[in-house]
Amino acid sequence: MKGVILAGGLGSRMRPLTLVTNKHLLPVYNRPMIYFPIQALADAGIDEILLVTGGNSAGDFLRLIGNGSQFGLKHMSYAYQKGEGGIAEALGLAEHFAAGDRILVMLGDNIIQGNIGPHVRSYLKQSSGAKILLKKVSDPERFGVAVLKGKKVIGIEEKPKKPKSNCIVTGIYMYDQQVFQIIKTLKPSGRGELEITDVNNAYIRMGQMSYDVLSGFWSDCGTFESLLNATNLVARSETRKGKRS
Ligand code: DAU
Repeated sequence: MKGVILAGGLGSRMRPLTLVTNKHLLPVYNRPMIYFPIQALADAGIDEILLVTGGNSAGDFLRLIGNGSQFGLKHMSYAYQKGEGGIAEALGLAEHFAAGDRILVMLGDNIIQGNIGPHVRSYLKQSSGAKILLKKVSDPERFGVAVLKGKKVIGIEEKPKKPKSNCIVTGIYMYDQQVFQIIKTLKPSGRGELEITDVNNAYIRMGQMSYDVLSGFWSDCGTFESLLNATNLVARSETRKGKRS
């Protein structure tokens, strides 16, 4: 299984922090944000990663991450997304890299503390299709919200005004090679983007979507508040580690 990290977009919600740099290069306590998804994928046993980025700071990722050897990666690849055409558009750039393999996709502004290895292993037992990881949050209207019926996810609503549950879809997705055909069928949403939620709903319609609930800390860093929360959490956890050693 290969890994794909999506770190394109212009980070417009985070201006002026993102006027002269990319959101994913901003600090989360003692590390650049992008280190967290790379480490999460490496911890799950992935050693080949494609990083999709864009904007004016793309070269900075290469200088920062290089070949990914500090994360124990075998290979680090890069792709460039022109503009901000959406998460699914950015993922479409990974087709040649994936070369028919299954992929573990993580959004570059997502931070987790636990290890997603067990979820990846359970996905690999699935004969085909996709898996998403859900999390209960207090502000579901900011995210893709899962509509659940019994043990099944029957739909996902992107940033609904009246969320049907407090279970949201985190930015960690597992797909088989069908994902690239699905992306080719998508039309831009109201905000002019190819939506990852439309990809996931396509798998749900095909009856090929499973989900797990993620345990442990998860946050995005897409707003000032969520970046601050993630920073505080990482700071507390580093301090605890420091006291133990
Ligand atoms: O964090 C989880 C949420 O991420 C999900 O619950 C939502 O369903 C999903 O749509 C997404 O929502 P956001 O509004 O938080 O997505 P955002 O536009 O902030 O993009 C998240 C990351 O995706 C961003 O850090 C980089 C990458 N991205 C985004 C866009 C729009 C790209 O690589 N290219 C893009 O064009």
